[in-house]
Amino acid sequence: MKANKASSTALFISRSIAYSSKNPNLKYFVPDKVKEINERFLKTAFGWKSIVFKNSGKYFLSRLLMQTFEKTVAPGLNLYFLLRKKKIEEIILTNNLFSNTEQIVILGAGADSLGLRISEEMRSMKVFEIDHPETQKIKQKMLHNYQKEIGKNLFLIPVDLAHKKLHAVLEELENFSFDKKTIFLAEGLFMYLPLEVVKENLKIMNYFPKNKASFIFTYLIPAKNGKPFFSSQTFLANIFLKLNKEPLIWALNPEEIDGLLRSLKFSPGDHSNGEDLKKYYITDPKQQKLQIPSGEYITWAIN
Ligand SMILES: C[S@@+](CC[C@H](N)C(=O)[O-])C[C@H]1O[C@@H](n2cnc3c(N)ncnc32)[C@H](O)[C@@H]1O
Repeated sequence: MKANKASSTALFISRSIAYSSKNPNLKYFVPDKVKEINERFLKTAFGWKSIVFKNSGKYFLSRLLMQTFEKTVAPGLNLYFLLRKKKIEEIILTNNLFSNTEQIVILGAGADSLGLRISEEMRSMKVFEIDHPETQKIKQKMLHNYQKEIGKNLFLIPVDLAHKKLHAVLEELENFSFDKKTIFLAEGLFMYLPLEVVKENLKIMNYFPKNKASFIFTYLIPAKNGKPFFSSQTFLANIFLKLNKEPLIWALNPEEIDGLLRSLKFSPGDHSNGEDLKKYYITDPKQQKLQIPSGEYITWAIN
């Protein structure tokens, strides 16, 4: 990430959610509360300019501009972000394996509203958001500006995970317990961290009693040339990521991810990419034909 600057990819996703929230074909995937928190994040980050992002999905011409941009970067990207978030939320809130969770640790949360919503709706669940200090500054300021009362179960911890071990971070927290059933979530984060750091993060599950820790994360598969593959048209996306010093560092196939998890003595879960999510969530045959990035997978593991 650029020194002294919030993550450009977190801001990009936030702008994408704002666009989708007013796009007639996508807005059904953006619940009101998500839209509200996201708009607050954008207002905090961009001030008055956020009005442009907030309305980018509303008008025909701005939609056309956004659709052209999306086609040149990664077709179906905006829909993909929405479905990725829907799937992750579904795994956390409805999969029986994760019932009775007492703590959730969200790594690299960016603008994502899931942690805030869970902390409001489930007061007995402790929510820890760990993010790069420059990105988390925005969320802290947003909470300060808009939230009269912040739940006692919500903790924001600014940390550069490339430089500090997750275990050391959690050990310093008074409110965190290594005995409680805990979910770790890393959505759109691991591809930016060295694989060694990723393994170190996954190993956090070793500190918990058996079946009490799980890790939901996303990863990229390699393209034919071995480089991380997100979508069929990523050369512009790669330029954007390089310019913003957020290059994609590594990529593995689903079988390699399972092998890695087993070598760490964890039980791997299933894997879904953009195409799977489209089949699962989209019923309209017209929308079924839309292209969607298929190089990123969501998966999970239990200790
Ligand atoms: C692509 S954004 C994903 C944001 C969010 N999880 C989502 O999917 O909407 C990447 C996130 O990872 C965080 N991040 C990147 N490198 C990091 C590091 N070394 N330490 C902590 N957080 C990091 C950024 O601050 C940003 O919030």
